Amino acid sequence: MTGVVLTGIGGALPDNHVSNADLAGLMDTSDEWIRGRTGIAGRYWSRTTSTGDLAVAAGRRALDSAQRDEVDLVVLATTTPDHPCPATAPAVAARLGLGPVGAFDVAAVCSGFVYALAVAKGFLAGGLARSALVIGAETYSTILDREDRSTAVIFGDGAGAVVLCAAEPGTPASLEHIDLGSNGEDRQLVWVPGGGSYERTHPGADRSTRFAMLGREVFRTAVTRMAQSSEAVLRRSGWTTADLDWIVGHQANERILGAVADRLAADRSKLIMNLDRVGNTSAASIPLALLDAVTSGLLAGGDRLLLTAFGGGTTWGSATLVWPEVKAEPADLIPT
Ligand code: COA
Repeated sequence: MTGVVLTGIGGALPDNHVSNADLAGLMDTSDEWIRGRTGIAGRYWSRTTSTGDLAVAAGRRALDSAQRDEVDLVVLATTTPDHPCPATAPAVAARLGLGPVGAFDVAAVCSGFVYALAVAKGFLAGGLARSALVIGAETYSTILDREDRSTAVIFGDGAGAVVLCAAEPGTPASLEHIDLGSNGEDRQLVWVPGGGSYERTHPGADRSTRFAMLGREVFRTAVTRMAQSSEAVLRRSGWTTADLDWIVGHQANERILGAVADRLAADRSKLIMNLDRVGNTSAASIPLALLDAVTSGLLAGGDRLLLTAFGGGTTWGSATLVWPEVKAEPADLIPT
């Protein structure tokens, strides 16, 4: 089967940084509580910047990093699209000057980036495209209940993007294997209850269009699903935990990632984390963490990576990746 290699990476953040101290001025919380329970010290909340704006900036950086100005396909993972209809990806493709390429959104909440990687890998391996721009972009600040201290402190806005290209099988620096899963029975763990078609046919349904989460249950489920999915994809790849140089988990919570590493019997020093600076950026979190790691010199060509994510749906997914020789710029801070 055709191989798939990563050839570029980029990211973008809105330039409005919100510290834990800022939030303590808005609600009954404290820097100590937020850092202790989550590891998060700050996040970026856009004022007017849309998900599409962030996706365009991240996409441009990824194309520059890959030294190319065209791709055959754009796959955008988001739960906070610019409009309920249409998808955000076609506008992003047009604004990037990519012409009439296939472009669509993937909705798998915080697992969205791994799902989008899987979709793009399928297109490339199946010969439907030779190159793809895969973007995870979110503006959770637009759906958060800013009076709900148990959710508002966790999430931030941002976008991360990678360029994938078809390659000869066995080419170094490839996206190896992927594991995906879901359990719709648990959809109420992380959700926006109202605003969709369900409430129209279910009188009395919760019509709130604000984000809601059952934090403790999410914590437990996330650890279990990410660990199981990681084990599955490692098996499929013929790798063991000892083969891994780095684990890049969805940046949900420092304690969740620590527990996943423990379950895999991996040293916690292999965890790549940037959630202290950007919070949980949902579908953008894995590419933004990868970008931070490459621009700070942590990642080297040939390193073996495990990516793993958990999100609303519930959904989960993991991938194995051999890191390429790639040059990238830090995330673009865009005026908001
Ligand atoms: N500041 C101060 N106190 C807070 C608070 C905040 N921001 N949020 C909740 N609390 C309080 C609660 O009201 C509760 O008080 P009580 O004991 O008086 O009732 C207490 O802290 C403990 O709340 P609890 O929800 O049990 O805390 P927790 O240890 O489970 O931590 C989360 C809460 C949300 C940080 C944790 O459950 C978590 O990280 N879950 C996973 C969330 C996640 O990663 N979601 C995205 C996945 S894709």
